[in-house]
Amino acid sequence: MRIVRTKSRLREALRPARRDGRSIGLVPTMGSLHDGHLALVRAALGRCDVVVISLFVNPAQFGPGEDLDAYPRDERRDAEVAERAGVDVLYAPAVEDVYSDGFSTSVEVAGDLTGVLEGAPDQRGPAHFRGVATLVAKLLNSVAPDVAFFGQKDAQQAIVVRRMVHDLDFPVRIEVLPTVREPDGLAMSSRNAYLGAEERRRAASLSRALRAAQEAVDGGETRVEAALAAAGAELERAGVKPEYLEARDAESLAPANSFNGRPILVAVAARFGEARLIDNLVIGG
Ligand code: PAF
Repeated sequence: MRIVRTKSRLREALRPARRDGRSIGLVPTMGSLHDGHLALVRAALGRCDVVVISLFVNPAQFGPGEDLDAYPRDERRDAEVAERAGVDVLYAPAVEDVYSDGFSTSVEVAGDLTGVLEGAPDQRGPAHFRGVATLVAKLLNSVAPDVAFFGQKDAQQAIVVRRMVHDLDFPVRIEVLPTVREPDGLAMSSRNAYLGAEERRRAASLSRALRAAQEAVDGGETRVEAALAAAGAELERAGVKPEYLEARDAESLAPANSFNGRPILVAVAARFGEARLIDNLVIGG
């Protein structure tokens, strides 16, 4: 595996593959690799000839008071994990290489997709997805992959990235892979490392809550309010007060009133000590 730290070295590393017409897959990450990332890597290895993983904790997507400084970073371990998994190129740029002096451009996907759920003003705010979209656009330009792989755990991020890729004509296919979960259902996330034992136990209620909504719908419930009440009751039993628990159209993110056969995204966020965790399930469709 080659480790590169600058865009010019990255392009140089990928030149032979591009010249020979080999396909390139990109797995963008903020490091602290876990099995969720490895599922993306495995999918990339299965579909592409050359696999690039990026490790970059992107300051632009963290708001004031968020965990930018605390975000777990262990490049040496990540490099070992990536190499063992079969990654060809690891791209780990410095902040200055990504955001050079005078950087003043950003990519903004309109508010219908980015001003709700994680992007709502009382959550991470619209600057969060501006930071994500700008960075992902830069990665797509630098790597120029044929396929880029994202996890369904960050469902809204995947929707925003797809919109941006479509609107700005990036010649890349976006693949979104299912959330990888711990045996008790907790979605894998680098932020799970912040959880103490008691928080870890309570955090499993997020996926139970989503399953409760799913079971309500499977049992014939069509009212969003009732399915969310079933999910909310599961959280309450675990003493968890969600930052949001919402049902939205899984493509447009417009509020959903009923489970009517269309795919509905049920999304939840909650804080457990230092860790703010998100999870979601697409129901129906
Ligand atoms: O999902 C992540 O890890 C990040 O948001 C991403 C896509 C790498 C952009 O920084």
